[in-house]
Amino acid sequence: MSKHDSAVPSAPAHREIPLYIPDMPTAGELLPWLEKIDESRWYTNFGPLNRLFEETVRRYFPPTPAVHVTTVANGTLGLELALAAFDLPPRSAVLIPAFTFVATATAVVRAGLTPVLADFDPASWSLTPEIARVALEQIPIRVVMPVTTFGFPQPVTAWDAFSAETGVPVIIDAAGAWDSQPIGETTAVVFSLHATKNLSTGEGGIVASADPGFIERVRNTSNFGFDAGEVRHIGTNAKLSEYHAAVGLAMLARWQRRKADKFKLLQAYRDRLDKLGNPPVYQHGMARIVPSLLAVRLPEQSDVAALAGRLSEQGVLTRQWYYPPLYRHPAFAALPHAGELAVTREIAGQILGLPFHMGIAPTDMDYICFWLDRLRS
Ligand SMILES: Cc1ncc(COP(=O)(O)O)c(C=O)c1O
Repeated sequence: MSKHDSAVPSAPAHREIPLYIPDMPTAGELLPWLEKIDESRWYTNFGPLNRLFEETVRRYFPPTPAVHVTTVANGTLGLELALAAFDLPPRSAVLIPAFTFVATATAVVRAGLTPVLADFDPASWSLTPEIARVALEQIPIRVVMPVTTFGFPQPVTAWDAFSAETGVPVIIDAAGAWDSQPIGETTAVVFSLHATKNLSTGEGGIVASADPGFIERVRNTSNFGFDAGEVRHIGTNAKLSEYHAAVGLAMLARWQRRKADKFKLLQAYRDRLDKLGNPPVYQHGMARIVPSLLAVRLPEQSDVAALAGRLSEQGVLTRQWYYPPLYRHPAFAALPHAGELAVTREIAGQILGLPFHMGIAPTDMDYICFWLDRLRS
């Protein structure tokens, strides 16, 4: 399909194609789990459903290294508590990408530490060990927190090697990378269970690591700091309730089916996008991502926001995910940078999220791709 030879496809039956529709369990799927809460009368504080949810989550990981997990109230608190477990001096530097959701930086600041903004690799759109090594030559970084950009799994073996070589620990902000991001021997991982994520409890998070002591510390911190009945370090309340665990268990019961459907949807989309006169650029390593959204790069586009506005007039809702980059938010504008962030400045604004959810029909995809092609400059 190109701008010149394609007929205008008919408008979708509904007026607008939403960007995202959360794919949460129905009341019917939830009921058996809620009845278990009625039976146990245990509503929060690491109850039986939370323990079953953690155990089921744990079994999704490869057998080695042995994984330990603890649930938290949301991904942002999971990152904050994981950072706090290192007990670093106040304002210690934590390297994060400038191109991420604001919560990555929020967690660092709330842990009393200083985010240092790094550039990203133009192929994977992610902060890599190579970028972190260069940053470390300039700034005494104490922790690196790479992000699984749009679900891209971070290379844990390479990050383990980075930590072994530099002594700097790594926590992966794997907010949107459920079922694609493994843990490392030393590299810990934090997932978000927000309603927009592939595995969701509505609000929630998971901290996963091969180090049982680290997970124990995060778990205690999520429960006011209690450790054998005493508080030795200040904690907070970041526990996941039994009701949230019920939602997570209902989602896990249907996850394999949903995962297959999401891969099929992505393939059907790509079949159409690849046929456009000027196909968009994809994130390198996309095949390893369990898709929860679809972001494409439109390198020729000088004003993606204007394109998003034109698409919206045709009923196609899109979003510039992770945009603007952190340094353009007033609250983060004064943060230090590691280097010039040249790739972020050039590429971040060219990335556009297209509608991606289980409610998209093949005719919707035809419609979206037609208008994307026609309205690009
Ligand atoms: C990259 C990234 N980090 C952190 C978070 C925060 O997760 P939560 O919403 O569970 O607090 C998100 C949430 O969307 C995210 O995309």
